[in-house]
Amino acid sequence: MGRANSLSIQAVDPAAHPSFVGEVSGVDLTQPLTPDEAAAIEAGMDDYGVLVFHEQRFTDEQQVAFSRNFGEIEHAVGSNVTKLSERRLGTDIADISNLDQNNQLFARDDRRRMFNLGNQLWHSDSSFRAISAKFSLLSARQIPSSGGNTEFADMRAAYDALDDATKAEIEDLVTEHSLLYSRGLLGFSDFTEEERVMFTPVRHRLVRTHSVTGRKSLFLSSHAGSILGWPVPEARAFLRDLVEHATQPKFRHAHAWRQWDLVMWDNRQTMHRARRYPETTEVRDMRRTTVAGTHPTVEQAQAA
Ligand code: OGA
Ligand code: MN
Repeated sequence: MGRANSLSIQAVDPAAHPSFVGEVSGVDLTQPLTPDEAAAIEAGMDDYGVLVFHEQRFTDEQQVAFSRNFGEIEHAVGSNVTKLSERRLGTDIADISNLDQNNQLFARDDRRRMFNLGNQLWHSDSSFRAISAKFSLLSARQIPSSGGNTEFADMRAAYDALDDATKAEIEDLVTEHSLLYSRGLLGFSDFTEEERVMFTPVRHRLVRTHSVTGRKSLFLSSHAGSILGWPVPEARAFLRDLVEHATQPKFRHAHAWRQWDLVMWDNRQTMHRARRYPETTEVRDMRRTTVAGTHPTVEQAQAA
């Protein structure tokens, strides 16, 4: 029936961002993809950095199966303070909801909720891992009546807009990322010894080069708390400055969710953040699969 021919991708906001955030139509992601469809979506990710699909009524298993088209699934443990015994979902799925293991809303001062509020800071998923994430795929199963947008920022455009002196200065800088740092920014610092070990800082290049397009991007994240060889206050002031630059409205897009949207983003080329919503009174059930990265960015120094 020519299914493969009906997939098309259009910029969501062509006037503001001709090559950032595409909307895909003509494909049912709950069913196995043809190789052409999978290749078209991967190419769309390389071009747009973020892809939006509507009306994808996934089960968890279907979402995992679709995600596998793009690489290995990242194990969704070690990224928060929720105990294994308190998980609501399987370990292939990151639980981005405000629900506990019994499908009850978290209390306002629940430690797990307070930790998860870190998603409201600009970040790249799993940049606190030595091998950080390639793609994230977020499925909206239930959405609140207001708030809860997800915002994206284009780290390629942000890099391109830097002046030449700054580009030269940052070219080979290496940063350290940790959940201890991003949560510390929100005043969350009562970590257990086990959590401190689990969240040991990892190193990443500040500038990365996309393996297919060759485009450079700023690899920033709320988890980044130091620059190797720099005094900490100077590093943090500079990183804050870069984040401010990179998240200007002109590099940014807000996604307003509809139920059953699937939004997929490339963590190597974008940052994102959640926005507030009435979290203690309304359910927001979002489920994320994550495609693992393939190598540490610090090796890209030689490769690039
Ligand atoms: C995530 C995330 C933002 C949101 O799923 O990684 O940061 O809006 N989500 O829930
Ligand atoms: Mn995230």
